[in-house]
Amino acid sequence: MHKMKMSGLFATKPISDYHAEAASKSLVRALGTPSLIAFGIGGIIGTGIFVLTGLAAAQHAGPAIVISFVIAGIGCMFAGMCYSEFATMVPVAGSAYAYSYATLGEFIAWFVGWNLVLEYMMACSTVAVGWSRYFVKLLDHYGVNVLPAWLTSAPFAAADVGFQVHRTGAVMNLPAIAIIIAATALCYRGIKESTLVNTIIVAIKVSIVVAVIVFGAFYVDSAHWVPFIPKNTGVSGQFGWSGIIQAAGIIFFAYIGFDGVSTVAQEAKNPSRGMPIGILGSLAICTVLYILMSGVMTGLVPYAKLNDAAPVAVAIESHPQLAWLTSWVLVGALLGLTSVIITMIIPQARIWLTMSHDGLLPKFFGAVHPKYRTPHISTLITGVLAATFAGLLPIGILGELVSIGTLIAFVVVCAGVLVLRYTRPDLPRPFKVPAVWFTSIMGVVFCAGMAAFLPEATWLRLVLWSLLGFVLYFAYGYKHSRLRRKTAG
Ligand code: ALA
Repeated sequence: MHKMKMSGLFATKPISDYHAEAASKSLVRALGTPSLIAFGIGGIIGTGIFVLTGLAAAQHAGPAIVISFVIAGIGCMFAGMCYSEFATMVPVAGSAYAYSYATLGEFIAWFVGWNLVLEYMMACSTVAVGWSRYFVKLLDHYGVNVLPAWLTSAPFAAADVGFQVHRTGAVMNLPAIAIIIAATALCYRGIKESTLVNTIIVAIKVSIVVAVIVFGAFYVDSAHWVPFIPKNTGVSGQFGWSGIIQAAGIIFFAYIGFDGVSTVAQEAKNPSRGMPIGILGSLAICTVLYILMSGVMTGLVPYAKLNDAAPVAVAIESHPQLAWLTSWVLVGALLGLTSVIITMIIPQARIWLTMSHDGLLPKFFGAVHPKYRTPHISTLITGVLAATFAGLLPIGILGELVSIGTLIAFVVVCAGVLVLRYTRPDLPRPFKVPAVWFTSIMGVVFCAGMAAFLPEATWLRLVLWSLLGFVLYFAYGYKHSRLRRKTAG
């Protein structure tokens, strides 16, 4: 029998309660292993590889961006293993939030759940803005100029540092709003429909990434890889090993998404098998693709030239023989970003659903559509908020917050796995993290290390975001928590 180890803020939710919730038939178990792997890849390949790689290589790591991808990939593998143990042991929609509630208590769980909003909802907005840029680029490529500039960017922009916001003269970012509305409608309609669309998109985008790697490999000039690790300029983070680590922190964004698989555990046909294969399989496939892709990109052009919002296009356009690939790359990026948006809305809605069942959010967040069996109200709220951010607000800054919010969730999950091995050694674990002490501690070290290298301003904004979260918690969740009411009554 579970006993509450600590009362009040750090009360932990009994795993048996989660098992009872997972057994309820509200959501539909429709996802097989291939759909789960595709779900992971759908969330992973996007802005990170199609946009951020160029900047990270040109400004921080040079050809050694390949090493940055290896470092971030290893950190994610540790985290992915810990997610897999939890997702098979506590197969519920709440993911890192629910795992924290079961291990480290309500207050930490709220903190993690609040940070997951940064990961999923803000990522959705950030990626939609990237989608809008690629959409306009694709129209330009075909000589179609139907959208005026004032309809393709946000009316406000923010300074890189500080908190000043200024008007840009634009009215709204219409394509970004439109893609989020379309993705929200799909996610509202059903998990089966959403994941089918996602799987088709993933097949196309992976083929395009493979095409860039295979055809690009013929034109790689190994002279571009020398020196492989450009000498540090004297400023920390500008090349050398500090640059490699800083670049790892930036391109970490490229890996975000594999953890989203754990939020559909309640919709998996067989979570014990599907969760580890979906999480670790998608991560392994993308790690290999990223390493090869970044190697080819830095082999096609001198790394300094990759400082562009569409670096993959820059790399292939430098060789006329590869020019035919350009429109495919634009289509691949556009589709790639679309599936990221879909696979970010789905987790956000499911995390809110679980938080609402626990009483930490109002009841309507937990509503499930009687026919479509999706958390439709949470899906709509996610879509409306994400579209508002993407269409109107300066999201550059919020984008940075995505990585820090995710890394914090990863750190807590890695630590939580170890805690639960000691507090509940009796629980059945269909997937067990191998060498748990090593994996869990290394997961914490890698993820905390990458977070530590993010800019100071990002940390400051995280503190403000967290304070806002704590105010909401004490104003609502603390009073309505089902666990507290149960233990008090
Ligand atoms: N990993 C996702 C991307 O790179 C979030 O767009």
